[in-house]
Amino acid sequence: MKAYISRNILSDAIDVLKQYGFEVTVNTENKKLTQQELIEACQHADVLLNVGHADLDKHFLESCKHLKSIALASVGYDHVDVETATALGIPVSNTPDVLSGATADVAFLLMLAVSRKAFYRANEVREGKWKDFEFMQDLGIELNGKTLGIYGLGRIGLELAKKAKAAYNMNIIYYNRSRNPEAEELVEAKYVNFDELLTQSDVISAHTNLSLETQYRFNKDAFKRMKKSAIFINTARGKVHHEQDLLEALQQGEIWGAGLDVTDPEPISPNNPLLQLPNVCVLPHIGSATVETRTQMAIMAANNLIAVKYSNPMMQIVNK
Ligand code: DGY
Repeated sequence: MKAYISRNILSDAIDVLKQYGFEVTVNTENKKLTQQELIEACQHADVLLNVGHADLDKHFLESCKHLKSIALASVGYDHVDVETATALGIPVSNTPDVLSGATADVAFLLMLAVSRKAFYRANEVREGKWKDFEFMQDLGIELNGKTLGIYGLGRIGLELAKKAKAAYNMNIIYYNRSRNPEAEELVEAKYVNFDELLTQSDVISAHTNLSLETQYRFNKDAFKRMKKSAIFINTARGKVHHEQDLLEALQQGEIWGAGLDVTDPEPISPNNPLLQLPNVCVLPHIGSATVETRTQMAIMAANNLIAVKYSNPMMQIVNK
């Protein structure tokens, strides 16, 4: 079986595939391929281990005639036309669970960094702009005992809630399509409606997949409903918030700060005015970027392809 890997990954996963007899080709150039390049690279591939968020749409799926299955090295699969894949008989898998802790860490990091303007202040030091100890300049706000509102309380949201509860005894409220009894028991999370989430939270953290329902859910109206002292965190997908509305909300003081690990588009332009604001921290989509987590993601994706080779169902299949 021929396997194509769309970006370089840790060698453990490549070795596993080779041990199971796959003929492996890796895009070692460490650059994102255009869709046409990816189509060409997959022309003879039986299976694809896809790293990153290239658009695996109808055109891509129909152009790769030999493709029998796709293993994503990501939990999100909004970049894949799963309906067409299903119609073509192509199973698709993702990598849930293994990245929950690392991604929640980044949400926690952003929450703390924004509340203390840490990266902005660190840049002042680097640029030689720090002149003296100041008692009243650029003060932060504390998280202790504040209310954390989680939009989408699944695996990653629960990990963040646990950390926030343990570190700062934060009061957890959440909005979800359905209730999460585990979270209600473990962190005393309280289920609220979307409006209550907006109006009661000191920090709102988005942990949802991207869908028609969640796209631009954090827009002008939502930011207006939030507390003026609120911090907005997004480690999910850039399109969950409306970027221009977020910028205006921050500029007009409708919310206090924002921490983003995801933007739309990615990479964000270095000239984006969001990057000039003291209460904003933007990271380059590093939620799962640790050696431990990326190793597990790559191995999980490889194992799903091995399952296909032996005519077994993929373990983390996303087709309905
Ligand atoms: C995911 O797993 O979906 C992250 O965004 C990294 O791809």
